[in-house]
Amino acid sequence: MSLLYSGYFTKRKYRVKSTKKDGNKSLVIERKENMRSKWCKEYNVNCDLKPEEQKYQEIKRESKVKDNWTMTMKTEEVLEMEEELKKSKNNTIKRKKRIAVIGAGCSGMAAVAMLKEEGMEPVCFEKTDKPGGTWCYREETIEGVASIMPTTIINHSKEMGAYSTFPPPKEFNNYMRHNEVYEYFIEYWSQYDCFRHVRVNMDVISVKRAKDYDETGRWNITVKNLMTNEISRDVYDGVMVCVGHINRPKMGNFPGLEKFKGKIMHTHSLKGVDEFKGQKVVIVGIGCSALDAAVETSCVAKQVYLSTKTGAHIMTRVGPRGYPMDYVLLRRYLTGFLDYWPRDWCSEFLEKKYLDPKFDHKMYNIRPQYHMLSKDPIINDHIGSKLLSGSVILKGDISYITETGVVFKGDNHETEADSIIMATGYTWKFPFLDEDIILQEDGRIKLYKCMYPPHLKHSTLVITGFVLVWGPGLPVGEIQARYAAHIFSGKGRLPSVKAMEKDIERRHNRNAKWYAPNDKMTIRVDYIQYMDEIASLLGVKPNLLKLFFTDVRLFWKLYWGPSVSYQYRLKGPHKWRGARDAIMTTENRLLYPLQLDRVKEDKEHNRTHT
Ligand SMILES: Cc1cc2nc3c(=O)[nH]c(=O)nc-3n(C[C@H](O)[C@H](O)[C@H](O)COP(=O)(O)OP(=O)(O)OC[C@H]3O[C@@H](n4cnc5c(N)ncnc54)[C@H](O)[C@@H]3O)c2cc1C
Ligand SMILES: NC(=O)c1ccc[n+]([C@@H]2O[C@H](COP(=O)([O-])OP(=O)(O)OC[C@H]3O[C@@H](n4cnc5c(N)ncnc54)[C@H](OP(=O)(O)O)[C@@H]3O)[C@@H](O)[C@H]2O)c1
Repeated sequence: MSLLYSGYFTKRKYRVKSTKKDGNKSLVIERKENMRSKWCKEYNVNCDLKPEEQKYQEIKRESKVKDNWTMTMKTEEVLEMEEELKKSKNNTIKRKKRIAVIGAGCSGMAAVAMLKEEGMEPVCFEKTDKPGGTWCYREETIEGVASIMPTTIINHSKEMGAYSTFPPPKEFNNYMRHNEVYEYFIEYWSQYDCFRHVRVNMDVISVKRAKDYDETGRWNITVKNLMTNEISRDVYDGVMVCVGHINRPKMGNFPGLEKFKGKIMHTHSLKGVDEFKGQKVVIVGIGCSALDAAVETSCVAKQVYLSTKTGAHIMTRVGPRGYPMDYVLLRRYLTGFLDYWPRDWCSEFLEKKYLDPKFDHKMYNIRPQYHMLSKDPIINDHIGSKLLSGSVILKGDISYITETGVVFKGDNHETEADSIIMATGYTWKFPFLDEDIILQEDGRIKLYKCMYPPHLKHSTLVITGFVLVWGPGLPVGEIQARYAAHIFSGKGRLPSVKAMEKDIERRHNRNAKWYAPNDKMTIRVDYIQYMDEIASLLGVKPNLLKLFFTDVRLFWKLYWGPSVSYQYRLKGPHKWRGARDAIMTTENRLLYPLQLDRVKEDKEHNRTHT
């Protein structure tokens, strides 16, 4: 028996009841207050209308409106509406496609939401006992499941990483800790009523073409119930693979590693630093995991050494004047430069203007061979002070490892070490897919728009969240899911195989010039450019020229301001009426948690509630 994730079952969002009023039978719709409707009220916008609500809204003009969310209507209209709703419900049931979503991380859950938005029936399999993937903190580490530290803070600010129909509450902090990120997700998933589609403790073990695949494009999915070991199979109209790719640790391999008598581990299983108290610790790598590990362990260790082959550009979360760095950098007018100026020049400009004034990379001897825009941004706010205090000492690559320590390249002596922590990144694998589905050729991962295997006969299998974004990953996962739902629904079509292969080759060749070599180089994307690319396919990219003549204030925000995801809900399929206001009020929500007014307001709130 599959385990439905009932713990998070949400209450119905609205209640329909009949009442007698002034001799007339009337229908009252009461909307349950939730985070978004609260937000909508606050900014006085009428947002997130479902189709049936929209119809009621149209009739509202002749009806007596009690308040924003409660309305009363006369009997004939009600009967008419009920008839219409019944008809559309029947039609919906007839054409609903069943799509299997593998993985209930933020990409998988966004997929569930977007499939529902397109009127499909998602069935989401999650091998752990809760949805959330990376952002569901757990003490234990599980094979093939991403893992965070108790202290992990998200790398992008709340407005930049927001879902397109769901601005984070103003009370939330700008760089959320993992538990706050999770809270945000729960609200978003509840809004789309996603939980009832999730089956937890269900490990997808194989995805194969169904017998009638050639005609229908359907897939056979085999799932193992991890509670009962029961295996079940079913056929689905489509598959969305959303299993993440930062979950299979890659260990560094150095001569003599097997001789080392101390502890060797990967950051994937680093959950606390107590065990390193008083120790000498070597950390290998200089990604975000390495810097987090170095900063944390150095609070208790005797000495921490940070070993890097290449160096890195290190960005802080706090940008100019204390604004979140991504809020300052991810703007159209800045990325526009990349269209006209060589990428290296733009990189150098950004390094000089935003990075070096905080932390001169040359002076700290950490400047890498590659430019800032050619790798993932490495984000850490504390490493500078750790290097200045000597709690962390920067070293070069490892030459070899001995029983009791490490010899770094360029040193002619051993550096003693009690523990080695590999922060050497992750490999990717989709073990349940046949090998002929995701093809790799000359280091090129063959996926159209980093999503679709181009050689499949039907566009019924898609991978989302399999990107390395220079910017926030969550809105990218969402727009990919939106595009996939659009294709599944038949409203859009993929181009020809030839056109897709050409696009893959073009991306690969461009990436080979732009980014440092890496086994995931093909799936690197720039945030605004990639969002625009998918948005254009969906027909939801804002038309800036038109806005310049019709709504210059909005144009101003979109061109000079932070490139928030709400802009992709201004027009096209599933546009959202709250999008413009969400864009115009972005800064208010950013400032709110920083301002003293909050304290005053909260005090007043408490006073009225005691
Ligand atoms: C320490 C750390 C910090 C990070 N920080 C950031 C950040 O600041 N900003 C950012 O944008 N990204 C960050 N990331 C990347 C992170 O992976 C993404 O934010 C995002 O969570 C990816 O979501 P996802 O749903 O694609 O994958 P995941 O979050 O990895 O979720 C995948 C889900 O699929 C499930 N699953 C896997 N295989 C199967 C199977 N066979 N059957 C059923 N279920 C399966 C897993 O259990 C998991 O729940 C970080 C990653 C790590 C490890
Ligand atoms: N929000 C957060 O606070 C947070 C925290 C941790 C991670 N993350 C995210 O999680 C993802 C993974 O980050 P990560 O730091 O674990 O991995 P990563 O970004 O892939 O970095 C791996 C590091 O290890 C180095 N490396 C790899 N193999 C090596 C070898 N054999 N010898 C020496 N060095 C080696 C790499 O150097 P080269 O590049 O030179 O190969 C690189 O510096 C990223 O997207 C990151 O943003 C976020």
